[in-house]
Amino acid sequence: MSSPLILGIESTCDETAAGVVRGKELLSSVVASSMDMHARYGGVIPEIASRAHAEAFVPVVTKALEEAQVDLSDIDAIAVSAGPGLAGCLAVGVSGAKALAYAANKPLYGVNHVIGHIAVTQLQFGAFPENTLALIVSGGHTSLLRVMNIATDVQVIGTTLDDAAGECFDKIARLLGFPYPGGPIVDQHAQHGDPHALRVPQALTTGRSAQNHPYDFSFSGVKTAVARWVERRQEQGKSIPVDDVCASLASSVANVLSNKAIAACTQFDAHTLIVGGGFSANSQLRQALLTKGQQHGLDIRVPRISLCTDNGAMIAMLGSNLVEAGVKPSALDFSIDSSMPMDKIVM
Ligand code: KG4
Ligand code: ZN
Repeated sequence: MSSPLILGIESTCDETAAGVVRGKELLSSVVASSMDMHARYGGVIPEIASRAHAEAFVPVVTKALEEAQVDLSDIDAIAVSAGPGLAGCLAVGVSGAKALAYAANKPLYGVNHVIGHIAVTQLQFGAFPENTLALIVSGGHTSLLRVMNIATDVQVIGTTLDDAAGECFDKIARLLGFPYPGGPIVDQHAQHGDPHALRVPQALTTGRSAQNHPYDFSFSGVKTAVARWVERRQEQGKSIPVDDVCASLASSVANVLSNKAIAACTQFDAHTLIVGGGFSANSQLRQALLTKGQQHGLDIRVPRISLCTDNGAMIAMLGSNLVEAGVKPSALDFSIDSSMPMDKIVM
């Protein structure tokens, strides 16, 4: 069989997205975001996001097919994010994908969004070497995974015990008065600040907790420590050195993430580290990983920003891997799974 032509559809949160890939070649990626509608509420409102998905679904899919210069009838299979994500949002994308698959008589794969963040790196860097680790950092997830086979076997070796890194940044950003999502704004301020201005805890990195949780993360203590520090200054009527707060937060989080990921590579004898998820756009993390990766002789694969944030091409790429591996499509009555486990690749 020649390389499969796959349409991927994504609607887990506030992006309605569709993309087309042939094998590991990107043909199109179209993203419509409802972010502006949520900004004034300080977070994504699921009901508003779901409605936006319903409105954007047909135009986005149509444009993705047009830009790829293919017709729905040319497509070999459709892949759609089945979870994890917001239930109402997932329901819109999955229902739409089922309707398309049924009408055009195409196989349909309900896939794991998080694994899509790993799969997408193949569009930029090519196939995975045998022993690959992945660090996935997004608004909702912070995890370390072993990629044995992207289509059939992904194992979780560590995950966050509480807040995800992106969530922690967004909450501090809110406290500093930045609009949602604040992560990228914290990143910009951090570039001008002193990373040693505040002492930010690095949870699960020393002592017994590190032994018990070598590859797990915890960011709620980081959030609380920074928030307390800011609140105390406010109570004292002192100004807030915003750049320093951001730099200290960013440096602590980037250190913990990069140190644990590199240590895992050493322990599991992996020479390639895939980095994915919206937070992998973070400059402090990218820099820390690239520097430490070089010191350890690792191949660090951080995709370009447009592939880091949620998109349909990542779902199409995972679909392409599933088809090439001969994995059976999902039954047409598969359900969404808003808390889909990380090691479940397809419904
Ligand atoms: O993967 P993603 O697009 O959506 C989820 O599946 O969660 O990740 C979005 C998260 C948000 O928390 C956002 O603030 C964060 O990624 N983010 C960043 C940066 N760009 C996006 N956080 C820090 N620095 C950035 N440059
Ligand atoms: Zn995501």
